[in-house]
This record gives sequence, C-alpha cells and structure tokens, in this order.
Amino acid sequence: TGNIITIPVVVHVIYNNSQENISDAQIQSQLDVLNEDFRRTNADADNRWSQAVDTEIQFCLATVDPNGNATTGITRKSSTRTAWGTNDAMKSTAQGGVSPWNTSEYLNMWVCNIGGGILGYAQFPGGSAATDGVVMSPQYFGSSAKGSGFYLSAPFDLGRTTTHEVGHYLNLRHIWGDGGCGVDDFVSDTPTSDGPNYGCDTTHVSCASTDMVQNYMDYSDDSCMNLYTAGQKARMRAVLDVGGVRRSL
Ligand code: ARG
Ligand code: ZN
Ligand code: CA
Repeated sequence: TGNIITIPVVVHVIYNNSQENISDAQIQSQLDVLNEDFRRTNADADNRWSQAVDTEIQFCLATVDPNGNATTGITRKSSTRTAWGTNDAMKSTAQGGVSPWNTSEYLNMWVCNIGGGILGYAQFPGGSAATDGVVMSPQYFGSSAKGSGFYLSAPFDLGRTTTHEVGHYLNLRHIWGDGGCGVDDFVSDTPTSDGPNYGCDTTHVSCASTDMVQNYMDYSDDSCMNLYTAGQKARMRAVLDVGGVRRSL
C-alpha cells in the first residue's frame, strides 16, 4: 500500500459513422469512471461488503506517443467495416484496424463496433503482444452520468463494462469462475457463485452464500456494480508489481 500505480492508456477509435466516432468528452468520462472505480471514489460505493477496497491503480490518457511526440492519447480512424467481431482484426493495421502502441508501455483500448451483442472483451496477461489490450463497443464506453449527448446504451451506460474488461486485462476472472460451485475465481474473499447474475438481485444466494452481485466481475447492470475486493486487488497488483508480467507499464 501507499504505492499508487498509474497506467498510461491509448484509445483507438475506429468508426463507421459519426455516432461511433465518440467525442473526446465521452472518452474522458470513461477514464473518470475507471479512476473512480479502481480508487473507490465512485459515488455509489457503500458498506455492503467490508472487503471492498481502493486498488491503488489509476489511469491516464497517454501524453507522449511511441515516437516521443505529444499526444492526446486518442487516435481516430474511419473504416468501411460496420462490425468487427472478436477475432482481433481491429488490432491490426494490415487488417484495416490500428496496430497497438507498445503494449509493454501502454494499455491499448480499441473502441469499435464489435457486434453480436458483445459489449467488450479483453486479453489476459501473458498473451500475444500484438493483440494485447481491451476492445469496447462505443455505446458502452463512457458514462451518461458524466455528460450529455454521449452515444451510450442503458443499462450498460455508466462505464462499468470497461472497468470489468480492465479487470480481465489485470488477470481477474469472472466472480463465478465461469463454472459451478466447485470452480473458483482464484480470489478468496469473493464468495463462491454458480453462475453470472444479471440485473441487480442483491439477495441472490448460490453455493450457500449471498452472491456479490455488486462486484465489477459479475454480469450485473452498470448501476448495480460498485466494488473490487482486497483479494482482487492483490491479484491485479501481482501482475503490476515487481516480477509481474505487466510490471513495465
Ligand atoms: N460480457 C462482457 C465480458 O464478459 C462484460 C459484461 C459487463 N457487464 C456490465 N454490466 N457492464 O467481458
Ligand atoms: Zn468478462
Ligand atoms: Ca472466490
């Protein structure tokens, strides 16, 4: 503790129409949500779960690009492609997307229409550098609580999908471990659960305990989520601290 890590972020916006070319203000609203959620300064933080913590991880838009020049931390590219799927084509200039900035120095986020009802997806630590980072559909990137005129879609309009995806990027699994009661998320202070929760059923019991539906790594609505735990913090910090695979960030 007492050691706050700031991760530089580059956002690559790839758009097929003006709506998908989300504003700088909408992008900034997402950075604000990430910082509030990871530092536990989110207005909806409560005392329901005593293991909720400030992860001491925060984010900033990059101010220097890979060539050493000043940057806004945002790149923009128009494309004739209307949906990108999940095969990582958006991460390759050769495939019509935008290749990542050095993934050992920047958290790359691509904002483009994924399609197929997919809000976002992320690569776990230890994967290929060429595809490392987070992909988000534009209508789930940012928060309608932090501005008006943004292109966002309720009930996933408060920026929590990106908070969730960055959790995966920092090695967190879904809170139910993607399996039944016998499958773990490798975090001891998140209660075992037998599957995802949708909506916001805060009294749902599975595996003989109340599910932590307010956790960012469940599938609850954005307005329901408000915490990471001490155990999740330790798991994320392990990849960022000395010896961790994302140490160079
Ligand atoms: N489906 C996405 C994933 O598994 C994220 C869902 C995020 N949920 C939310 N309430 N924003 O990575
Ligand atoms: Zn997920
Ligand atoms: Ca657990």
